[in-house]
Amino acid sequence: FSSFLTDRFSRQHTYLRISITERCNLRCLYCMPESGVALSPAAHLLSTPEILELARLFVSQGVTKIRLTGGEPTVRRDVVELVEALGELRGSGLQEIAITTNAVALSERKLERMVTAGLSAINVSLDTLVPAKFEFVTRRKGLERVLATIEHAGRLGFGAVGGPGRRTLKVNVVVMRGVNEEEIVDFVEMTRERELEVRFIEYMPFDGNKWATAKMFPFADMLQTIHTAYPNFTILPKQRPNDTAKTYHVPGFAGKVGFITSMTENFCGSCNRLRITCDGNIKACLFGQEEVSLRDMLRQYRSAEDAVGAGTSREEMERKLLEIIGGAVGRKEQGHKPAEEIARSEN
Ligand code: GTP
Ligand code: 5AD
Ligand code: SF4
Repeated sequence: FSSFLTDRFSRQHTYLRISITERCNLRCLYCMPESGVALSPAAHLLSTPEILELARLFVSQGVTKIRLTGGEPTVRRDVVELVEALGELRGSGLQEIAITTNAVALSERKLERMVTAGLSAINVSLDTLVPAKFEFVTRRKGLERVLATIEHAGRLGFGAVGGPGRRTLKVNVVVMRGVNEEEIVDFVEMTRERELEVRFIEYMPFDGNKWATAKMFPFADMLQTIHTAYPNFTILPKQRPNDTAKTYHVPGFAGKVGFITSMTENFCGSCNRLRITCDGNIKACLFGQEEVSLRDMLRQYRSAEDAVGAGTSREEMERKLLEIIGGAVGRKEQGHKPAEEIARSEN
């Protein structure tokens, strides 16, 4: 496995998350202020050829899974073309192409084209099934469209079980005390007839999201709530070593239930993720402060290529990019701070 993608703790990074836009069509309370985020000048953002160049390089080093994220990835105009181009990397070792979306603007046609191109996993963010609450949490309308997309993905063969040649559908629910913890059982009910995985996520601190320990609804409490309603709720064996979620099910139900316990039982030890921000920085850890630019190196090479002609030194550019990537991976910390410490520094 590539030494550039292996860190000091022997973690091999086979999963790349690429943010393709910082824009979003929703304004979730825990993510953005009502006014949205300050947008970067277009020239700072990675172009589609640049994204593909980086994707190719990472796949050549052993990345097998790429997830497109945002902001909201579907607001990028050429998201479908991007997935189509990534689909061509499947011959070079890319096994999974995934997207995390709020599904509000994911039309049937777009979704079908992406699936044809090789999209194999959809994670839909949905925190409430109550229309008024949806508007409260996201500050926008759209619940019906989200639910329609979930049903449509089901019809396209997306299910709860992963693996080669399979398509997975997960619904991400960020549980917030005082907001949606009373809907936990309703979300479990979604898995009765539907082959999908509902994943409950512990609310995490991010800059400016006014995180407070009091709002976090811990995994143990979620389990207790579910056990009360479904006494036979049972844990399932771990499917893949790097999964973020612990998976359970209600025996007899078609789908599964997962828990992402970033706060109370972090999974940093088995982390296999790297991320690229929409302006082209590599970020080795979600909670890390460090970001290093890959875009600047890419553009330096491009302008040299324009001046001297193609082939100036593609290999040299790749080597330099890999040095930057290897450096960032090499400095990756063992894990993030425990919840109480993050909370203390936030408040
Ligand atoms: P799968 O590929 O299906 O396992 O999805 P995922 O869990 O990697 O990604 P998704 O985009 O669906 O994110 C679900 C939750 O996991 C979100 O709350 C993310 O913020 C969180 N998450 C994603 N990556 C990381 C990470 O590297 N560390 C931590 N602590 N949480 C993460
Ligand atoms: N804590 C936990 N999950 C979060 N997400 C966004 N902000 C937070 C937070 N503070 C989730 C979204 C989406 C996924 C990419 O991250 O709901 O499902
Ligand atoms: Fe943030 Fe996602 Fe909500 Fe958009 S849908 S505001 S990116 S959490």
